[in-house]
Amino acid sequence: MCGIIGYIGHRKAVPIVLEGLKKLEYRGYDSSGIAVLEDGALKRFRAEGKIRKLEEKIHKENLSGNIALGHTRWATHGRPSEENAHPHTDCSKRLVVVHNGIIENYLALKTQLISEGHRFESETDTEVIAHLIEDNVSKGLLEALRTVLGEINGSYALAVISEDEPDKIIVARSKSPLIIGLGKDENFVGSDVPAFLNYSRQVVYLEDGEVGVLTKNEVKVYKGEVERKFRSVSIKWDSAMSEKTGFDHFMLKEICEQPRAIEETIRGRAEIDTGRIYLEEFKQKHVLIEKLERLVITACGTSWHAGLVGKYLIEDIARIPVEVDYAAEFRYRNPIIDPGTVLLAISQSGETADTLAAIEEARKSRCPVVSICNVVGSSISRESDVVLYTHAGPEIGVASTKAFTTQLVMLYLLAINIAQTKGFLKQAESIELVQNLRLLVKKADELIDKKEEIQRIARKYYQNRNFLYLGRGKGFPVALEGALKLKEVSYIHAEGYPAAEMKHGPIALIDKNMPVVVLALKGRRYEKMLGNIEEIKSRGGRVIVLTDEESPEIRKMADDLIVIPHTSIPLSPILAVIPLQLLAYYIAVLKGCDVDQPRNLAKSVTVE
Ligand code: AGP
Repeated sequence: MCGIIGYIGHRKAVPIVLEGLKKLEYRGYDSSGIAVLEDGALKRFRAEGKIRKLEEKIHKENLSGNIALGHTRWATHGRPSEENAHPHTDCSKRLVVVHNGIIENYLALKTQLISEGHRFESETDTEVIAHLIEDNVSKGLLEALRTVLGEINGSYALAVISEDEPDKIIVARSKSPLIIGLGKDENFVGSDVPAFLNYSRQVVYLEDGEVGVLTKNEVKVYKGEVERKFRSVSIKWDSAMSEKTGFDHFMLKEICEQPRAIEETIRGRAEIDTGRIYLEEFKQKHVLIEKLERLVITACGTSWHAGLVGKYLIEDIARIPVEVDYAAEFRYRNPIIDPGTVLLAISQSGETADTLAAIEEARKSRCPVVSICNVVGSSISRESDVVLYTHAGPEIGVASTKAFTTQLVMLYLLAINIAQTKGFLKQAESIELVQNLRLLVKKADELIDKKEEIQRIARKYYQNRNFLYLGRGKGFPVALEGALKLKEVSYIHAEGYPAAEMKHGPIALIDKNMPVVVLALKGRRYEKMLGNIEEIKSRGGRVIVLTDEESPEIRKMADDLIVIPHTSIPLSPILAVIPLQLLAYYIAVLKGCDVDQPRNLAKSVTVE
């Protein structure tokens, strides 16, 4: 996700927009830019890197214009660079656009525009919007934008200014947040309230499908052609909380962002009617999938847990043998890489030293490398033949949450894509797999709404000093991930374990002081998990049961029960992990831990 800020009013616009960009930097920080109308002429400044790079470019300029747009980027299409930084412009250079979202059909539109003579300067999907507006600008800016919105598919929060109509900012929103801040002789627009909270606490949240027109003294909002009478909302946050947009911690904010992050990761890649999965990234490298005989997944920490789930998904759906290895182990074990092997590296940051080294080790045997990354242009993405980007947006909390669930979505898409490429899937099967995926977003939202229920459970157990997490099948990696989350943020010892292994030793640990989190997910192993619960209860243990198969029997057995929505078995890990993230979060908060920056940890481990 990216950050947008716009200002129109009686003050100098650039200082306000720069300040707003710094407030939004947590939303994306690989490049940034500003455009300002100076005496009717558009001036544009852009820079790769942090906002301060942009500031260095601007500080010698004497910019007094009263209308400007700013953007801080989290790259999804096109590497981080000055050319790809927003604002983007058209051939005439008389208008600029800033955009947050993904234009799914940008390639087809760009091809058409180039054939009509448009010249592009960037690799982004956003630039297409500027050229499409240019083609329609004779209708006036508002009508031109309305026409363009009818031609693009995907998600957008966007703002436009133009030399032709220098007294207004036109904005539009669909599936990406955009908020208008109301002022006296001035108005603001931003991706998040923090962008302008120092100047306005009266805000209007644009709805999907709405367009807005901001002048210095007036704001109008339209649903289609019809003007909507709006009521502003008063913001009560203090500025300290503002970057977390009202959440106490980034970790909780990012847990709650997961439905949107999942939706953005799916966007443009799964066709619901046909069940087709489109991974454009393999276009020039389709041979990788056709010749794929064995996949080696390598990663660290949470990403390694995602790889374990990926093994189940890819072997089950695509029938390809998969092995999963810690990157630090793979890089030193002189791995066997035969001709049909492909290495799949999973990394949120794309900078983890061990994972990077594992790639280098595979390269010695000329092994093709595919990576699943969340940061465009990161070191691991640059070392890969193919990069499958998750679109989770910046993950600021050290404990990885939305990165994990979007990695699982990406692995699910990859499994289906491999199966389709190898002809293993009937269309009806593909359609069902994709429909289940589409339904996931709403189910994840339902789980987020259980926050208070999980908080109550956390209050019962936060003083315990040891936890066990048990699962079977795909529930086992989720048990590992739940334990890691608790360890990381609450400093409580927690161990994830395959439930069937309890009788081979760990059951000796069970007593009333060792709460056991049990993932009893539907499937062939469900009954066995009930058996594990019985074993624990009969030894005086306490169980927190997480299940998608509620029954009077399981309700009676559990000391505490967390029921998650039904989904297909392959997708259950994506839902099951969310309550475990929340449990770890609330226990850590109750213990007074530094949730976003736990002791001894770093967000990205760039050393061995
Ligand atoms: C997870 O919560 C941790 N922050 C850590 O285990 C992390 O997953 C690991 O360091 C790998 O990071 P990466 O995904 O950026 O490569």
